[in-house]
This record gives sequence, C-alpha cells and structure tokens, in this order.
Amino acid sequence: MVTTLHKLLDTARRRSFAIPAFNVTDLETVQAVLDAAVQMRSPVIIQTSEKAMSYAGARTLYALMRVAAEDRARKIPVVIHLDHGKHFAVVSQAVRLGYPSVHMDASEKPGARNVALTKRAVALGHRHGITVQGELGYLLGYEGMTKIRFTKRAIEKYLTDPLRAAEFVRKTGVDTLAVAVGTAHGVFKGKEFIDVPRLRAIARATRVPLVLHGGSGLSARDLKTAIRNGVRIVNIDTWLRLAFMKGLSASVKRRKPDHVDIREPLGAARLTMMQEAIRVIRLLGSAGKA
Ligand code: G3H
Ligand code: ZN
Repeated sequence: MVTTLHKLLDTARRRSFAIPAFNVTDLETVQAVLDAAVQMRSPVIIQTSEKAMSYAGARTLYALMRVAAEDRARKIPVVIHLDHGKHFAVVSQAVRLGYPSVHMDASEKPGARNVALTKRAVALGHRHGITVQGELGYLLGYEGMTKIRFTKRAIEKYLTDPLRAAEFVRKTGVDTLAVAVGTAHGVFKGKEFIDVPRLRAIARATRVPLVLHGGSGLSARDLKTAIRNGVRIVNIDTWLRLAFMKGLSASVKRRKPDHVDIREPLGAARLTMMQEAIRVIRLLGSAGKA
C-alpha cells in the first residue's frame, strides 16, 4: 500500500538497512519492482524523474504507480517519490497529484538559490504532510551512462561539504539529504567510491537520513559501508535499465519469425528487472523489513 516515508526512515535507522529507491517509467518497470518487493517483503520507493513523467504522462504514470501498488503490493509499504525535481513547477505538480515524497534538486544552482527553492519545496510539502529531499553537492554522470572518465581528485570539488550540509539542512528543514560522496549516476566499474570520513561527518553534522544517488555500480561492500554510516535510501536506475535490455534482447533473439507478441520481450524484460531488484534488495538489507 502507498505510504509516507516518515515511519520507514525510522525503521531503517533502527534496523540498519537502506530503503531501495528504484526509478520507474512504465508498466513493466513498476510491476517488476513491486513484485520484487512483495517477494522479498521489502519496503520500497518507486520514483519518477521529470523525463519519465513527460515520457509516460505525469497523471498516467502516477495513476499506474498508485493502482499497481494497491493491487500488487497490498501488504508492502510503497512510497511514490519524485526523483530529481529540477523545476519547482514539477515539484508542485507532484504534490498536487498526491506524491507522498518529493526531491527538490536545485543542486546545480548557486547555494543561496538552492536554499531558497528547497525551503519553498519544504514549506509546500510539509503543508501536505509529505517528505522533502534536498540535494547539496553534485553527482557526475547521468542515469543510463556506462562510460566516464574521472579521477578522485577531479571530482573533489563536487563532493558535499559536511559543514555546508549542516547549514543547508538547518536553513531548509529538509527531511532527507542527497549527498555527493564519490558515486556518479550510471555504472562505472571500479571508478565509484564512498568517501567514508566525509559521509560520516555529514551524517553527524546534519542528523538527517542521507540519500545515496548513483547506487548502480557500487560494490556490496561499499553499499554496506554507506548504510553503516547514515545512508537510509539508495537510488538505483541504471542496473534496472541494463537488466531490462538483457531480458529484452535475449527474447528478441529467440523470437520465431512467424510470430510476434510484444508481451514476450516486455515480459522477459520485466522478469530480468524483477530479478535485479531482488538482488539489490538483498544488498541493501531491506528484505523481510516490510
Ligand atoms: O536518482 C537516480 C539514481 O541516482 C540513479 O543512479 O543510475 O547510478 O543507479 P544510477
Ligand atoms: Zn540521482
């Protein structure tokens, strides 16, 4: 059933796990993630980017997520979340639609502008009893990206500064904070890292649940370290996309030339995405925590 993040965050802190937040964009991604959460009895966040909302239609995608959560995941806490709301207009659209959680991502704007927009989003969200995520620091890459050249030194300037994070949380009142501690959007084997001292310092300075973006590509060890040091939500997109492509292409290869049924490749992609979501749920320790 669709719920808010408040209680889930508390459970995640007490029972030391991270809530998986999967990006969804259509029927198959929504069903794959919900089925994985039901099978693993895991709380789950299903989240939409602005691009997913314009691809599927914001009202259509929200209705799909809401009904699918009520139909397929009756006994599982499901949070519908706006991911990387870059425009305040999209944040308010999500609030109007009924999203229980939103991310005001003004991290690419100058500091004072980020504070002002995030504060506005918090005021709007809290008037409707919903949680608001803010973002400070900048993640390289973009969802779906699989090649990038960066060195630890080069990205230092984008990472979240613990003292600035404390001030940002105090000024904006966000419920959760997305931080840049060495991950990047996309999958870059062996390139991504967790700056643990920095993460620990941010958790201590801000005292709010932290959100790790760019989760795809991280090692099990890094994910567990992040969870031990204050991360309560891990965002995953590219791993699901890769699983989709794997299932789809294998099914297209198997297709008999005299028969076409698009539910076969889409169904195969849904299955491989569900299997990938189950793997991630196991990694984040949220299995059995619903
Ligand atoms: O907001 C979405 C996530 O940060 C996706 O990152 O594609 O590296 O899993 P990822
Ligand atoms: Zn992200």
